[in-house]
Amino acid sequence: MHIQRPPVLAAPVLTILVTALALIAATPGAQADGAFPPITNPDVVRECSDCHLLYRPEMLPAASWKAIMGNLGAHFGEDATLAEPLRTDIEAYHVSHASDVSGARQAQKFLKGVDLKNPPIRISATPRFTRKHDELDPAVFTTKDVGSKAHCNACHREAKDGLFDEDTVKIPGYINLPFGINIKPLW
Ligand code: HEC
Ligand code: HEC
Repeated sequence: MHIQRPPVLAAPVLTILVTALALIAATPGAQADGAFPPITNPDVVRECSDCHLLYRPEMLPAASWKAIMGNLGAHFGEDATLAEPLRTDIEAYHVSHASDVSGARQAQKFLKGVDLKNPPIRISATPRFTRKHDELDPAVFTTKDVGSKAHCNACHREAKDGLFDEDTVKIPGYINLPFGINIKPLW
């Protein structure tokens, strides 16, 4: 009579496998950036989110924020004038969290490659923005659902919470596949 040997090895091998998988899953992904620090100044939140997404101060250097906050009367074709001391207070918050002042990891990333002598006045004109979007069809920014590069939250679904990671992006009107492949359906 032949007696089947119990699978003694199976249990330990399975345990090792499960442990290894759990360890891999727990390791922070090299790709994931994590969220920007929260904006803690209620004046900034109130005054800078009426017309568009509340942009993160860590995305531009101090010189850019000084230029933007010093010219609110002609703000990208809009009058966004603020009374003093509100304007000064909001400028100070942006400057103290700017990409070349803040120590946050996100700030360091947005500072890389920026020409501080000729600071951009748009986040969408920073080297990091360009690097991260240069493989996209430029037409994705001008569809009626998006409108312009400045409308980050049209694609970055968690941008309000300061999260821009790749796995939270969905380009409206496109089929978004892994590895950054986006297809415009013909139907
Ligand atoms: C009255 C409306 C209005 C208010 C209030 C306003 N903005 Fe804007 N802002 C705009 C418009 C319009 C644009 C251009 C958007 C576009 O290009 O599609 C813009 C663009 C920007 C951009 C450039 C975005 C990019 O990367 O292209 C920054 C930065 C910015 N605003 C910062 C601020 C800050 C800081 C405040 C608060 C002090 C503020 N805005 C308040 C209307 C406003
Ligand atoms: C038309 C849609 C669209 C708009 C609008 C858009 N993005 Fe993106 N963004 C993408 C896509 C798609 C990716 C991922 C590219 C890839 O696969 O590497 C991306 C990637 C990024 C990344 C890199 C994320 C990472 O983990 O590597 C950052 C940061 C980012 N975007 C910031 C912004 C900001 C800030 C704005 C607005 C000023 C903006 N984006 C506007 C589609 C958009």
